[in-house]
Amino acid sequence: MRHAAITGWGMAVPDRVLTNADLERMVETSDEWIVGRTGIKERRIVGPGDSTTSLATAASRLALDRAGITADELDLIIVGTCTPDQFLVSQACLVQAELGGNAGAFDLGAACSGFVYALATGSQFIQSGLYRRVLVVGVDTLTRFVDYADRTTCILFGDGAGAVVLEATDEQRGLLSTVLGADGAGHKHLYIPGWGALVPESAELFPEYRPYLQMNGQEVFRFAVRVMGDAAAEAVEKAGLTFADIDMLIPHQANLRIIDAAARRLDLPRDKVWVNVDRYGNTSAASIPIALCEAEAAGRLHEGANVVFVAFGGGLSWAAGAVRWGTAGVCRDAACRDGSRKPEAGTTGTGEREPGRL
Ligand code: ACO
Repeated sequence: MRHAAITGWGMAVPDRVLTNADLERMVETSDEWIVGRTGIKERRIVGPGDSTTSLATAASRLALDRAGITADELDLIIVGTCTPDQFLVSQACLVQAELGGNAGAFDLGAACSGFVYALATGSQFIQSGLYRRVLVVGVDTLTRFVDYADRTTCILFGDGAGAVVLEATDEQRGLLSTVLGADGAGHKHLYIPGWGALVPESAELFPEYRPYLQMNGQEVFRFAVRVMGDAAAEAVEKAGLTFADIDMLIPHQANLRIIDAAARRLDLPRDKVWVNVDRYGNTSAASIPIALCEAEAAGRLHEGANVVFVAFGGGLSWAAGAVRWGTAGVCRDAACRDGSRKPEAGTTGTGEREPGRL
């Protein structure tokens, strides 16, 4: 069977840092309250020179470099985002305009679950045999829609982008299982009003109109604690693994208390759970690929490692997948890439022997 290995990865966050001390000067809150309820200490927020396109492009360039391919070689670009720079055209086309090439390009909207939904979709195109190389991006700039006078939401969010390149391999790498879910009835608990085609907006029609993110924090919290654990457990089981086989859990970074609850459900020790919510806050669709890049840079992902991604978000939606890390069997030289030679089984695709394989 064909698989979709993750062969490149990259992340980008804005330079501007917003600390809890900054927020203490903006709304009635405290560092103690924010850290105690969420685990967040600071976040990166977009400045005038940043955009969803600039962050997504920077992360994508790093991912392509890491994979050793150019945008011309891509078959497809999928961008998971709920904050595209514009509605017409897609964010994916705006990213392609920067990267080059003529790959198919489309967006996927699943809020904070967007990256895992997009990863599942991109992997399907490869597993079906239709495509060989897919770029999957998770990016959001939710702080553009945060009301910095509303202390219940403004403390939570940051901006960023993460991207991965998927490439075909005959070895068992990439997504091993997929769990996607949604509870549309919960759409009212987390949304940005307007910004759509429902009715033309005007101050006359909507005197109270505020284009800011609206959230019922307690409802979302309860939902998240339930689905994060359940979805991660289902992804592990569907992959034919047990919790003991899991090397790293990479959860959506929304709130440390939600992450801890998911880790407890899986009975995973804290050192097997990647946490960076303290430094970035909730970066929505970008949070899992950013965490993935950091875990890899810290040397925590080895060839053959079993990783679990799990996310929840607006929709309400959730998504999880077990991933086998590594590039075994992926074409790494020209002869192999143009299809004239297959990589030798049990190699990393560079000709190097895969660890643990004779
Ligand atoms: N500083 C100080 N006090 C605050 C703050 C603040 N920043 N925000 C709220 N409070 C107050 C409230 O007004 C309330 O006061 P009251 O008791 O006098 O009425 C009190 O603190 C408790 O408020 P709760 O809402 O009950 O606080 P809770 O423990 O639920 O924490 C939080 C709130 C952090 C928002 C939590 O509910 C949460 O994390 N929910 C999940 C949110 C989330 O993950 N959203 C992203 C989804 S992903 C996506 O798709 C974008």
